[in-house]
Amino acid sequence: MSYLKISVMKYLLALLCIIGILAMVLTKSKSPPYEPGHIEKTVKCKSDLMERRQLPTADPRPVLYVVTPTYRRVEQVAELTRLGQTLLTVPHLVWMVVEDADACSPHVAALLDRLGIPYVHLASAMPAQYRSERYVPRGVSNRRAAMTWLRDQSPQPTGVMYFLDDDNTIDIRLLEQMRHTKKVSMFPVGLVADYLVSSPIVQEGRVTGWFDGWIVDRQFPVDMAGFAVNLSLVMASDALMPYHAGYEEDKLLRAFGITMDEIEPLANQCTEILVWHTKTKKNQPPSLRREVASHPNSNIAALAENMERIAMATT
Ligand code: UGA
Ligand code: MN
Repeated sequence: MSYLKISVMKYLLALLCIIGILAMVLTKSKSPPYEPGHIEKTVKCKSDLMERRQLPTADPRPVLYVVTPTYRRVEQVAELTRLGQTLLTVPHLVWMVVEDADACSPHVAALLDRLGIPYVHLASAMPAQYRSERYVPRGVSNRRAAMTWLRDQSPQPTGVMYFLDDDNTIDIRLLEQMRHTKKVSMFPVGLVADYLVSSPIVQEGRVTGWFDGWIVDRQFPVDMAGFAVNLSLVMASDALMPYHAGYEEDKLLRAFGITMDEIEPLANQCTEILVWHTKTKKNQPPSLRREVASHPNSNIAALAENMERIAMATT
């Protein structure tokens, strides 16, 4: 082969490589689909709205629907116990607990039943296609399922909807304030990003801007726990939360078509922090089989079995 032929081939090979790399980069950087090409599978496990602690129909206060996504992990029962016992103290509230799973877990069902709080228990697994994304849209399938339940199944489609993650911390005074939301209310959330707070900017009683460490191109740069919505807005549209990590709140609020003037600032004109985006350190479930074997005739076998039941250990 002549020297010329070899260098032409080398040139062609390099060109092919560049085209290949370009194609890879372009397909990788392409935005993932934010709307599902299919309907998620939702399992309706149980709703116990009336039998236990009757929703007092004579109570003129609007009902609060608190939507909490959750998923199986070592910390799950601790989180749900803490949050559930906070919500238990608030009357006229329905807790919508939606598991990111194919079916509802017995340990979550048992916890809800035991608390005696009016609740709706659903399961809606994140579609597999989103699990492998660089930024996974956590809790989205859950919240979509809750909104669909409110539209299709709710026996009392009036009130206020609020998204509260299972690991967050809330002051019950804020729940009382937000139940009177006319359209959309907003308030500061503590422990968010660089400023350790995300809040609307309020001037003379009106929301005029945003105080948040990550505004980027978001029209409503707020935290998931930073707003509540009157159900009339939910019922009047078919808007659902998009599978777009970082933009879930913004795109949902945009879809409701609200204006800045309509936002109701709470928490004393957004000067107080009454909800926190707390994060719990993640742990790995230990295998306790050897420990169980080395402590016969004791409580350890039953303890480990109970831990396994609530996803805290493997035996
Ligand atoms: C932040 C936001 O506050 C969430 O509202 C948002 O869903 C999430 O980022 C996101 O966009 O990825 P962060 O504290 O980082 O929250 O996330 P997690 O607490 O891990 O998850 C948010 C909620 O989704 C929790 O209630 C959690 O139980 C639930 N989740 C998480 C699932 O249902 N499935 C998962 O695989 C992970
Ligand atoms: Mn969290």
